[in-house]
Order: sequence, then structure tokens, then C-alpha cells
Amino acid sequence: MRIIHAKNYDDMSRKAANIISAQVILKPDSVLGLATGTTPIGAYQQLIAWHQKGDVSFAEVSTYNLDEYRGLKHDEPQSYHYFMNEQFFSSIDIKPAHTHVPDGSNPDAEAACAEYDRLVEAAGYPDLQLLGIGNNGHIGFNEPDSVFSKGTHCVDLTESTIEANSRLFNSPDEVPRQAYTMGVQTIMQARSILVIASGSNKAQAVFDMCKGPVTPACPASILQLHPHAIVVADEDALSLF
Ligand code: F6R
Repeated sequence: MRIIHAKNYDDMSRKAANIISAQVILKPDSVLGLATGTTPIGAYQQLIAWHQKGDVSFAEVSTYNLDEYRGLKHDEPQSYHYFMNEQFFSSIDIKPAHTHVPDGSNPDAEAACAEYDRLVEAAGYPDLQLLGIGNNGHIGFNEPDSVFSKGTHCVDLTESTIEANSRLFNSPDEVPRQAYTMGVQTIMQARSILVIASGSNKAQAVFDMCKGPVTPACPASILQLHPHAIVVADEDALSLF
């Protein structure tokens, strides 16, 4: 794993945006795997700014997001569909039909997940997969477990993830209890992986991901086995190194 030190959140965001824009400039029809959450917002803002200056175009890019809450419609403000449109897609020149997020509005978990796997496979898997990391080492919604997950599947969210994500809802009770997520095996199919992390609350997870044993107890640790995994993290997130 290649670890790139950033000074702070803004520096992490610019470095991540540089890597993503280089990917798109070198291969305009790149397949990007994307993440939601707080961490990537700065990188998306930077990419939007460069797009508006005319430095990078997403006209031929297609995207596949990691995950979506089960039971939320696409236009509900807490859904990841909505988040991606608000934070990124509506401000760049990507074709809406080229953007993909698991269909949380489909109550048939098996059908929704199988359809998403089919789409990601047909696209040839991401050239570059952007990932955040949970405080407990989760990637996507793949929580600590006794085995690594494979394809897209429906998960029960842990109390710690519900608590961490409740900041975007009126109360923890409103946070959906389940989500559809790409599996660890699917994530590992990406040709390159970019993990971003900021803040001292991520320090233990970042340390375990990079230096701990490869174990499903820390799902992100499997990235040690990926041939092209880059971590861009700020000083606080790297404070245990
Ligand atoms: C989001 C996702 C999650 C987040 C992780 C970190 O699509 O898959 O794994 O990346 O929970 O979230 P933030 O960035 O909010 O700390």
C-alpha cells in the first residue's frame, strides 16, 4: 500500500482530487467507483472547481457508487442517490445515465443486489475506486465480520455505524437499519483503489488497515493485498504511525 501524507483535510482533498482528475484526463471514459460520507466532499468540490475552469471533463465517465440505504427513495435527502447528485453529479458534465447507485428503493434485496453486480461486472469494474473508511475499519457498508463478503449484498448496520451516520438524520431512530453494499470481493476487482481519511477518529482504523493483520475484523485490511492501493490521509488520521 502506498501511503501519501497530507497536512490536513483540505490538503487530503486536493491530493485525492489530483489523483482522480489524472485518471480521468488519461482515460476520459474511465469507470470510477465512488463513495459518499463526509470525507470525499472536499475532493468532489475540488473536482467541480477544476471542471468549471475547463480542466477536466466527465462527459465520458461512468460511475458506480458503493452503497445505498435500503428503503430510501432516490429523491429522499438522506439517500446516497440524492447526496451524489447534490455534492457532485449536478455540478459536472457527467451524463445522468452513466451514474449508478444501488437501488435502495427496491425492497427485493436479492434482485437489487444481483442487478447491481451485473451492472458493475458489465462495466468491467472500476478503473479507480474511491473509498472512505469507517471508525471500525468498514469499507462500503462491509462491517467487521468473521469472513470477507463477496458481491453486492444487504447488510444490517452496526450500532456504531448507525450512531456515526445519525448526524445526517433528525435522530438515530430515523437511520435505516439496512443497506445494500458492494462486497469486499467486488471492491478488490477495481484496478486501483484510493482510500482517503481525515481526523483522529480514523487513526486506529487507518493504522489497522495499513499495518494490522489482514482480517475481516478490519475489512479495510484486505486492501494490503491489492496491487494498486493508495491511502491519502492527513496528519491526525496517521497519528498512530
Ligand atoms: C460511503 C461508505 C462508507 C464511508 C465511511 C466513512 O459510501 O461507503 O464506508 O466511506 O463510513 O464515512 P465518513 O467519510 O462520513 O467518515
